[in-house]
Amino acid sequence: MGYIVILSGAGISAESGLGTFRDKGGMWAKFNPADLANPRAFAKDPARVHEFYNLRRTACVAAEPNAAHLALARLERDFSGKVLIVTQNVDDLHQRAGSVDVLQMHGALFRAKCAGCGEKWQAALIMTADDTCPSCGAKACRPDIVWFGESPYHMAEIRAAIAACDLFVVIGSSGTVYPAAGFAAVAQEHGIRTLSINLDHPAGASSFDEMMTGPASRMVPRWVEQVLGAA
Ligand code: APR
Repeated sequence: MGYIVILSGAGISAESGLGTFRDKGGMWAKFNPADLANPRAFAKDPARVHEFYNLRRTACVAAEPNAAHLALARLERDFSGKVLIVTQNVDDLHQRAGSVDVLQMHGALFRAKCAGCGEKWQAALIMTADDTCPSCGAKACRPDIVWFGESPYHMAEIRAAIAACDLFVVIGSSGTVYPAAGFAAVAQEHGIRTLSINLDHPAGASSFDEMMTGPASRMVPRWVEQVLGAA
């Protein structure tokens, strides 16, 4: 086996204390995504949207990568083939754990962009509606997060990776938000083995040849041990 592609979701960061979206008490149980995670909500009330992401950025700074993030960084270092992480998460825990080849398809909490000229820069911990773009000076600064109704990043690269890999693994995702939710079925159509590592059975369970059920901090190190031991 020479190429592993891993798709991670909020569940891999749950044990680092960062909330998931759809679990009981998850983010979307407290906040309505329609009020926050879309361009119209931002145009209507930028201060409220900034406050939501300021809270998430502050929580992320206080969080630490957990054993699952660290195990994936070890896999990238010690596996003889290639490892690519495609994450739906906007936190930076994979990178802080040491993973290098990471594609953030839903954007990044710690990156900002100008809704006017498209300039991107490292986001301050606290952003406000009065911030001005460092490039064009417009008061149009937003988190560089892919909101509902916007196109995810890196899609061509992700599709090519899924078609070329030998194993496609989904860790900590409910499998309910497309296009990511359809990736396992695409891999299976290419005859690629698929594995789910999740606290419970995700949607689209039939797209997985194998399922490891349990907390990521326990299951991912165990899986990485199996892969490296078998190599
Ligand atoms: N270990 C493994 N899996 C876990 C853990 C854990 N400790 N805790 C929760 N999970 C699982 C849940 O069972 C659930 O299946 O993680 C999954 C989290 O699902 P969601 O909350 O829907 O998160 P995710 O799949 O990443 O959401 C996808 O939706 O709102 C958008 O842009 C947002 O990227 C997000 C996308």
